[in-house]
Amino acid sequence: MAAVERTPLVDGFGRAHRDLRISVTDRCNFRCTYCMPAEGMPWLPREDLLTYEELARVARVCVERFGFDGIRLTGGEPTVRAHLPVLIEKLAALGVDLALTTNGATLRLLAHDLAAAGLRRINVSLDSLRADRFAAITKRDELGRVLDGVDAALEAGLDPVKLNVVVMRGVNDDELVDFAAFGRDKGVEVRFIEFMPLDAQQAWTNDQVVTQDEIVERISAAMPLEPVPESVRGSAPAARWRYLDGGGEIGVIPSVTHPFCESCDRVRLTAEGSLRHCLFATRELDLRALLRGGASDDEVADAIAREVGAKWAGHQINQVQFIRPARSMSQIGG
Ligand code: 5AD
Ligand code: SF4
Repeated sequence: MAAVERTPLVDGFGRAHRDLRISVTDRCNFRCTYCMPAEGMPWLPREDLLTYEELARVARVCVERFGFDGIRLTGGEPTVRAHLPVLIEKLAALGVDLALTTNGATLRLLAHDLAAAGLRRINVSLDSLRADRFAAITKRDELGRVLDGVDAALEAGLDPVKLNVVVMRGVNDDELVDFAAFGRDKGVEVRFIEFMPLDAQQAWTNDQVVTQDEIVERISAAMPLEPVPESVRGSAPAARWRYLDGGGEIGVIPSVTHPFCESCDRVRLTAEGSLRHCLFATRELDLRALLRGGASDDEVADAIAREVGAKWAGHQINQVQFIRPARSMSQIGG
């Protein structure tokens, strides 16, 4: 087969896209209050999900045609989909930087197989280190399993292992220093995420957002921090700080107060095969219909290029005209 020419996937604002986020399932074994109702979440029928072959094809087109170099698997909870290592192996063969975001509950069982299949890095979402509070947030009494999962990921050689903490005022913001200390202790980077209006229950209010400035100030008061220079940040959304005593780094993802839209290089594929150019996009492209309708790689690539070409400058969480997406995070993919 003739080599296909790589053309960067540039949108109307000059941003080249290189990072694909794939939601492999909308299902989850947790029910985090800010993400899903405790009961009655409607799941996609099995046949609506892209197969691993279809997912790998979209990924290959993005890599071959547009030079994508990063793929992250998300959900729902990606590890609840059967045989995830099979997909990891297919994607690892594309030679990209392959990452996974998980709630960590299944890692004791899976971390080794995931690493062996070619997974490099992993982000574990964890919003409380207190068992009762963890259970209240996730509706599952599984803090111990998640902490053991973090250990399993480290033991399997996944590198880096990062923790994602969604900071919510009055819910877990009194644990900022505990989380920072936990990260230092384990040698994992903790990334504090500003709470975004993406919850299925529509419970988000602005005053629940703990800002990046406040997060850094409160941790620094206990364990002094300094910013890591911008030059090493690139398009990664997390701004980083390091401990003055050399005890490691923390990251903050300031999605609300300092949106990183101007350097966004991401495209998202939902579990049922819709391509979204933004978490907050109000439109999406039905790739599944194309894939199942016999479209060629050229046609798939053209459709992706058109969708990304229509990408907007950025979300407007802080503006009155902001429209909350009709889907929650578990339905879009984080
Ligand atoms: N705001 C910020 N982060 C969120 N996540 C899920 N919902 C929200 C929200 N409303 C996080 C998860 C996980 C990642 C995929 O996104 O906790 O770490
Ligand atoms: Fe599951 Fe993640 Fe949603 Fe929690 S936030 S319910 S772990 S998909």
